[in-house]
Amino acid sequence: MIVANWKMHGSRQAVSSWISKVSENLDFKDSKLCIFCPPSCYLEYAGKLLNEENSQIKLGSQIVNESEAKPLTGGITAAMLKDIGADYVLIGHSEQRSFIRDGDTGIAKKIKESIDDGVIPIFCVGEDLAKKNNNETESFISSQLEVLQILSESQLSSVIVAYEPIWAIGTGLNADRQYIEKIHGFIKQYLKDLCSIDIYVPVLYGGSVKLENCEEIISSDEVDGLLIGGASLDPEIFSNIFNLS
Ligand code: 13P
Repeated sequence: MIVANWKMHGSRQAVSSWISKVSENLDFKDSKLCIFCPPSCYLEYAGKLLNEENSQIKLGSQIVNESEAKPLTGGITAAMLKDIGADYVLIGHSEQRSFIRDGDTGIAKKIKESIDDGVIPIFCVGEDLAKKNNNETESFISSQLEVLQILSESQLSSVIVAYEPIWAIGTGLNADRQYIEKIHGFIKQYLKDLCSIDIYVPVLYGGSVKLENCEEIISSDEVDGLLIGGASLDPEIFSNIFNLS
């Protein structure tokens, strides 16, 4: 599963050109998934183009709000996302946590509501540099994962987790494979312990993924996919990453 998170980039022209180039280039072997998360204002346009292309690329939103936050100027609910054909949504991204002060209670509600409305949450967790340097990564990530405790086991089986160390986002400094494996292993064990039944929650890695490091990162059995920011903007680079992963 390879996810393109465009953040606050793009235009109608860029969306259209990306969709047509990427649709042409992607090799969908082994039922690998590609998820495109453009800015919200281009979601419906992107969905229309993907339908016209009969593309296998899935649509994802970068944001969602809790419906109980109503009235909320500028808000978007999971039901609205489903209505325009988005099947996935990023929740808890560190940029949303720091910029709009997205907190654990709201994040938990958004995850639950998205699942109930048929939109799969990609729940982002990750530590900052100070926590990493203080050896607090695992305890911090545990505290972030706690929000999943409100889910039933069947709801939990609809969640995707993305591990995105904040110090690696947009810095060019990706976590090395050994570190990623350690943290992904920790996340998977935490999720296992949360459930009495055997469920598989995919764990993606994000943070300065690029053409040069994607093969090494994805080759780990602990890594189920990639969440890509900057390197997803160029359709050729993104397609090459997808095909190599
Ligand atoms: P970069 O790939 O630009 O580091 O961004 C990672 C990210 O935040 C994806 O959600």
